[in-house]
Amino acid sequence: MQNNIILVGLMGAGKSTIGRQLARRLNLTFYDSDKVIEERTGVGIPTIFEIEGEAGFREREEQIIAELTAMPNILLATGGGSVLRETNRQHIKAGGCVIYLRASAEHLFQRIKHDRSRPLMQTSHPLQTLRDLLKMREPLYLEVADLIVPTGKQKVNVILRDIYTKL
Ligand code: S3P
Repeated sequence: MQNNIILVGLMGAGKSTIGRQLARRLNLTFYDSDKVIEERTGVGIPTIFEIEGEAGFREREEQIIAELTAMPNILLATGGGSVLRETNRQHIKAGGCVIYLRASAEHLFQRIKHDRSRPLMQTSHPLQTLRDLLKMREPLYLEVADLIVPTGKQKVNVILRDIYTKL
């Protein structure tokens, strides 16, 4: 889908915040794959992990990613783990212009350390967990990305301006 923009990156990279504003300015309909899963199931992501495990969540995520990436004129903020599945990566790549919002594990940690809504962060060493996830997933984000945009220390407006100049 030519006009679509798809944001990928780890938890805390700013996919939802940036995505919402970018969608408004580019006149695209904003979707957040996690929110769509929550709306469809009527429960939060932590409850899905609790009842169905990560595997169950990934099944739901795959269905939603396939559905949303086939829609026209959308801006999609994907869940941080959506790139794990090859099928999702194919849908994401074919779905539009893919932007990887890139940040260090330390910056990501600062943004999400008080947020309890992410089951994968409920570990005894969440910073280390983020480092491990980043190491494992970075090649996958890079594989699907058309554009790479740093979102470390930058303010939202600076990131948005950076995206406009690169689009
Ligand atoms: C996950 C990221 C979350 C959510 C789920 C799993 C991940 O989305 O999909 O908790 O595997 O990185 P955000 O990246 O929007 O936080």
